[in-house]
Amino acid sequence: MCGIIGYVGNKQAYPVLINGLYRLEYRGYDSAGVAIMNEEENELFLYKSQGKVSQLDAKITGKKTAGTIGIAHTRWATHGEPNDINAHPHSSQSGDLVIIHNGIIENYIPLKKELIGRGYSFKSDTDTEVLIQLIEDIQLNENLDLFEAVRSALNQVIGAYAILVFSRSNPDTLIAARKSSPLVIGKKMGEYFIASDPTPIVEYTKDVVYLNDEEIAIIKRNQDLRIKTIRNKDKTPYFEKLEMSLSALEKGGYDHFMLKEIFEQPHSVSNCMRGRLDPRKGSISLGGISDYLQKMTNADRILIIACGTSWHAGLVGEYLFEDLARIPVEVEYASEFRYRNPVISENDIVIVISQSGETADSLAAIKLAKSKGATIIGICNVVGSSISRASHAGSYTHAGPEIGVASTKAFTAQVTILTMMALLIGRKKGTITRSKYFQYIHELNQIPKKIKHVLKSNDDIWKIAENYKNTRNFLYLGRGYNFPVALEGALKLKEISYIHAEGYPAAEMKHGPIALIDEEMPVVVIATNKGTYEKVITNIMEVKARKGKIIAIITKGDETVKELADYYIEIPETEEFLVPLLATIPLQLLSYHMAILRGCNVDQPRNLAKSVTVE
Ligand code: M6R
Repeated sequence: MCGIIGYVGNKQAYPVLINGLYRLEYRGYDSAGVAIMNEEENELFLYKSQGKVSQLDAKITGKKTAGTIGIAHTRWATHGEPNDINAHPHSSQSGDLVIIHNGIIENYIPLKKELIGRGYSFKSDTDTEVLIQLIEDIQLNENLDLFEAVRSALNQVIGAYAILVFSRSNPDTLIAARKSSPLVIGKKMGEYFIASDPTPIVEYTKDVVYLNDEEIAIIKRNQDLRIKTIRNKDKTPYFEKLEMSLSALEKGGYDHFMLKEIFEQPHSVSNCMRGRLDPRKGSISLGGISDYLQKMTNADRILIIACGTSWHAGLVGEYLFEDLARIPVEVEYASEFRYRNPVISENDIVIVISQSGETADSLAAIKLAKSKGATIIGICNVVGSSISRASHAGSYTHAGPEIGVASTKAFTAQVTILTMMALLIGRKKGTITRSKYFQYIHELNQIPKKIKHVLKSNDDIWKIAENYKNTRNFLYLGRGYNFPVALEGALKLKEISYIHAEGYPAAEMKHGPIALIDEEMPVVVIATNKGTYEKVITNIMEVKARKGKIIAIITKGDETVKELADYYIEIPETEEFLVPLLATIPLQLLSYHMAILRGCNVDQPRNLAKSVTVE
């Protein structure tokens, strides 16, 4: 939610900032702004615009942008509607200080009242403007330098923040701080690049420092980076090397990131298994959790906590751990878990799944579970993210940067990790025999090839989308391992095409949703299950009896469902527990084509943001 970028160095700041905003736009895209200081002319250029970064870019074209220090922001609105005034950066009363902010200052109302009482006036409805006025007030009253004023202000605020601040009167220094919202600092010779994530930094430098919660960085041109805590304790900056390629951030010839990411799945699933799955030896090794494997194997129960698509992956995880490792699992929405006073003990294993590794609710759930002594295992895609760092151990999904707001390749990678964990633990516990283990590992290793095969149905799926593009409602049905697939298919459709869609366990349909079925209602049925195949056929018959239309995902060669369905998409045969890795792909493509045919912006759907860093 919100992308922030800053630059201080010896080159022109504007190209770094505007390119950075384009890279960060997936984090929020309702308005954007930039502030650049021209030291020679002692002039501050501040431009803001409602809408996308391209609108800001167009607004600035031909205007003055010279300067070697600046900050820029792309917004996902929380306080105040998305308009030019509420867009960041925000200035202090005197105009000397400028700020950009990602997060929420929860106690902004009493602070604002106090500041108004002291003569401050506010232009915007944002909590961020309150923070910059507070910093200025402290600076003036207590005669502090900018770092001390920021530090003092942050000790008064409640909430979440990643901020960048600079002063016109000291245009050599940027002050950065974070709590619960991410911030990373890249260094190259005498220049610094600061951003919400490494995507705008990687083209300039691979040497980065991730700020920790309640840390403040003092970033001066041509000087060493200094980091202190908000209690004023010195910290030594710990530089890491980024492992991210620039090409992973480009569309690579595809029309949209989402399509590219769907088509990357043979590769991303392989990447996720690389060095971990050895089909020749019949072994799995997950280095990141090796120290906790015994504890996981002995666990009386596992809690899986996540949001959105990652929650759906968690639901597949429930079936996997129960089926293969015979460990009871509870799958929790992070947002519910954190406020529910849940029963957690030191024996609990809590697996937290997150593509971004920054989701605020999931982070808060970790804090709660940790405070009760549980062991936290993180499954994240973004290396170095807050959730991965807050976990005791974990496995990265290695799917590569996911830019499309709708999660696709992250889901299949998450399910791949969960599958490897469940197999590993199942074998260790003895709930999977040696020969089955070999067989399962061999079949898991075939999945990337089989995904490639599924992707060949792209044109057929486009035809289905063409036929249903004006439909207003969709139902998705699946049983067993395919129930989470149905939920994920429905989420994908609604978030990018704005068609109302519901996912349901197929047999639950008769307890309510069946009332919705008429000749207008397409029902997507994932009809591949071996275990409940006949039952799913019964569900298809129930839909047909009420004139509903069937779009079926079937196992290759299944003539029975082919004849019953209005449309069908075939996927290759595989083990039942691996079906979600294949059956999800056509549903991703179906929602993609539906959205394109309806003229929607698939990579940046309305009201959404990639990384949900507010509750
Ligand atoms: O980064 P996370 O995996 O923690 O994000 C969780 C959800 O916000 C995310 O999956 C969201 O539901 C996606 N837009 C789904 O496509």
